[in-house]
Amino acid sequence: MKLTILGLGTMTGAILAGALDAGAVRAEDVTATTRSAASAEKVAAQHGVTVTSQERDERANHAAVAEADIVLVGVKPKNMVATLTDLAPSLRPETVVVSVAAGVTSATMAAVLPAGQPIVRTMPNTPLTVGSGVVGLAPAATATAAHVRAVESLFAGSGLVVPVEEEQLSAVVAAAGSAPAYVFLLAEAITTHARAMGLDGAAAEAMAAATVKGAGLMLQRGIESEEQTAEQLRRAVMSPNGTTERAVAALQDGGFEALVAAAMDAAAARDRQMGEEFGV
Ligand SMILES: NC(=O)c1ccc[n+]([C@@H]2O[C@H](COP(=O)([O-])OP(=O)(O)OC[C@H]3O[C@@H](n4cnc5c(N)ncnc54)[C@H](OP(=O)(O)O)[C@@H]3O)[C@@H](O)[C@H]2O)c1
Repeated sequence: MKLTILGLGTMTGAILAGALDAGAVRAEDVTATTRSAASAEKVAAQHGVTVTSQERDERANHAAVAEADIVLVGVKPKNMVATLTDLAPSLRPETVVVSVAAGVTSATMAAVLPAGQPIVRTMPNTPLTVGSGVVGLAPAATATAAHVRAVESLFAGSGLVVPVEEEQLSAVVAAAGSAPAYVFLLAEAITTHARAMGLDGAAAEAMAAATVKGAGLMLQRGIESEEQTAEQLRRAVMSPNGTTERAVAALQDGGFEALVAAAMDAAAARDRQMGEEFGV
């Protein structure tokens, strides 16, 4: 598979690292671009692939896509339309264009790409950088089953790949794309209050991190083995009249579930709004 990455940055760098590790693609079959020459030099050294920059060669993106089977576009959502519009004449008809951009719809992409160009939208999250990410994957009607399999194989080293309809991507943003930040906020709150309760700062931080990791592993095992849901795991640590029962009651009395739902609604609404802002 010949892979081209336009905008080899944080997110596409994590996808590339996973794909190289999993053997889904060979470094010599990867071509990438960045905007600045400094970034190109840095990420070329980091990943061991060829990287050119728009700064050094304004035709860099055009040259990079010439042979590509898959073009993974990693520029910011606000730059998607301009990048794709510029690129369109140089794409081969069979090249699959894959987006990781929040908000930008396949209809917007199709409007500026050649008619019939295969398009797959994806929504990854940052735990992908440690091989434990979530990727929502929504093919447009122009993508065949073979295109989808090729794109899925790219994410082989990334974590959990969930096929969805494009209309469901805002929910994926809310439930996975933005969700690591909710967990980090919980860890922050636990750390801050553990300090206030007299624990040493570094110990409090390490305890929060180990607890999030341990609870995450228990939950993943429970779900994968179909033996325990999150609710069952929670109930198992809530002895009647015990400490955890009191703690969970305090969270629920304070509206914990409603707050999480409001946070997820806000993320999904912003995703849809970005679709309007950065669309055509
Ligand atoms: N980070 C997340 O949590 C996350 C989660 C899900 C989806 N995403 C999506 O991932 C995308 C990138 O986000 P990021 O955080 O990875 O950003 P980033 O690290 O800033 O990467 C953006 C890359 O695009 C390059 N670039 C900008 N304009 C370009 C052009 N015209 N041609 C070629 N390359 C160009 C930049 O080069 P320079 O370094 O030279 O500017 C950089 O390499 C966004 O669409 C975002 O919605 C991110």
